[in-house]
Amino acid sequence: MTEQHKYSATDKMSDLICDNYSLLMVMSRFGLSLGFGDKNVKDVCEAQGVDYRTFLAVANFISEEQYSYNDAGSSLSIPALMDYLKRAHVYFLDFNLPAIRRKLIEAIDCSEANGVAFLILKYFDEYAKEVRRHMEYENEAVFTYVEQLLQGRLSDTYSIATFVSKHNQIDTKLKELKNIIIKYYPEKENNNLLNAVLFDIFNCEQDLASHCQVEDYMFVPAVAQIERKLKNEQ
Ligand SMILES: [Fe+2]
Ligand SMILES: [Fe+2]
Repeated sequence: MTEQHKYSATDKMSDLICDNYSLLMVMSRFGLSLGFGDKNVKDVCEAQGVDYRTFLAVANFISEEQYSYNDAGSSLSIPALMDYLKRAHVYFLDFNLPAIRRKLIEAIDCSEANGVAFLILKYFDEYAKEVRRHMEYENEAVFTYVEQLLQGRLSDTYSIATFVSKHNQIDTKLKELKNIIIKYYPEKENNNLLNAVLFDIFNCEQDLASHCQVEDYMFVPAVAQIERKLKNEQ
């Protein structure tokens, strides 16, 4: 029995993007580039060597916003999903957070060595450090473990359940930062720059939350299934 999802393999890729522009991010995190003309999802993915089922599963998961993923992992490629998550980490750490920091500095008055502006920047830097720790742990510990699993090797000391018990939400602190800016930043005549950076923070918060949901509801169950399979074989 197949479930009816929002997007299918024969939909035009350009229609997906126009329907939900956050799928642009999903595309680039799968390593897909633009300029695909009128090709459908399956053809765009196959032309660029990407597993189209995994792309579609993530695109639907993110767009349906119901955060329940029940596909038993059968049509999901774990290497493709891991590539997607790794590229997302690079995006957050090396592009998005540094860009927000630059915009913040431009938007707030940092001329005083203390005060709200100073506090905001300090808070942001602590937050970025926390995100880095979170993602580097996933890159180093979790993905390495899963790569070994994919080669058929179970570990005596680590399992995906360990990751689940440690996996904390990283968007909470960003919410607090946003609140400090909204509630306490001194009034100025022109708020365009500050509003622009707030928009970026709102987007980043949403993007991080859905990133974590993909990990919890798609990646973890798929890995757990491989663990079970390997245990049964032993
Ligand atoms: Fe992650
Ligand atoms: Fe995570």
